[in-house]
Amino acid sequence: MEKLEKVKKEILSCIEGSDSIDELRVIKKDYLGKKGKISELFKLVAKAPEEERSELGKKVNEIRDILEERVKKKENALKILEEEGKGSSFDPTLPGEVPVLGNRHPLSRVSGDLIRIFEKMGFSAIEGPDMESVWYNFDALNFPEEHPAREMQDTLFVKQSSFSGSEKHNISSKERKVMRTHTSPVQIRHMEENEPPLRIIVPGRVYRNETTDATHEINFYQLEGLMVDEGISVANFKAIITDFINQFFKGDVGVRLRPSFFPFTEPSFEVDMSCTVCSGKGCSVCSNTGWVEVLGAGMVHPNVMKNSGLDSEKWQGFAFGMGVDRLAMIKYGIDDVRLFYGGDLRFLKQFY
Ligand code: DAH
Repeated sequence: MEKLEKVKKEILSCIEGSDSIDELRVIKKDYLGKKGKISELFKLVAKAPEEERSELGKKVNEIRDILEERVKKKENALKILEEEGKGSSFDPTLPGEVPVLGNRHPLSRVSGDLIRIFEKMGFSAIEGPDMESVWYNFDALNFPEEHPAREMQDTLFVKQSSFSGSEKHNISSKERKVMRTHTSPVQIRHMEENEPPLRIIVPGRVYRNETTDATHEINFYQLEGLMVDEGISVANFKAIITDFINQFFKGDVGVRLRPSFFPFTEPSFEVDMSCTVCSGKGCSVCSNTGWVEVLGAGMVHPNVMKNSGLDSEKWQGFAFGMGVDRLAMIKYGIDDVRLFYGGDLRFLKQFY
């Protein structure tokens, strides 16, 4: 009898401990099946002495009934659990969800590269306001009164409600506001407030009243440069800009200066580099010339020095301005500037 109680306890704990229907089936077969433990017990009962047989038989029957009922109950409980589990189907062996990571915009990346190169050469990056006065954007930079860049078709003038009616015609150029058309006005702001020697770069956004196409945008980015000291010459400029181009394009790139005109420099140049796409042989990027124009530059005009309060007899300097978008397009072979501003993640994700 004691042994029977022990066996009963053992089987019950197996049933309770099973945590799947498959496992329960195996237990059922092992204990309650034809060749299971309970059948064995019945065989043992048959061999027991006659006077104990009927009592033992009753006990085994009782145990079997209890066990069968427990198996049924457990089976139902497991079925309910398995049904519920199907809805959430949590699988801890699956790889986790990878969080979506952003990446830097190609223009921020290129801008960062440009800044790093110039900083290594001793230039400090500074900023100026996006909304600028006509004085800083044009007058102080020696733009004549009738210069075409000042036209409404080229420049975005800011509506200034504080000036009304006839007043509008008398607003001074220091009060009249435009969205800066270039980063050059920051040259004046810096020279006004600092004593040479000066060595700055100015990364920033500029605005033009343009009809947008593959090479024109209503806003884009520039990087301005200015170096002022005693005895600065075109040779200093050429050395620095050649070093910069070779670092940025990672190679031995040819550089040439072509005479040009800007109101704020004298002499003025356009800087070309040999085409990195065809190595100077001629292709569609360089219009078969082998050269690509990369920036405008020149020696700071004496009037610009004067307008900033510097003595042009004592100080000389060079200045340059480059299009960040344009440099990024040349470097990465991008043929449409609008891609930078379209927000298409398929394009943006290629730069990290
Ligand atoms: N500001 C000129 C532009 O937007 C670029 C430029 C040319 C800047 C010559 C300079 C310079 O500093 O010296 O087209």
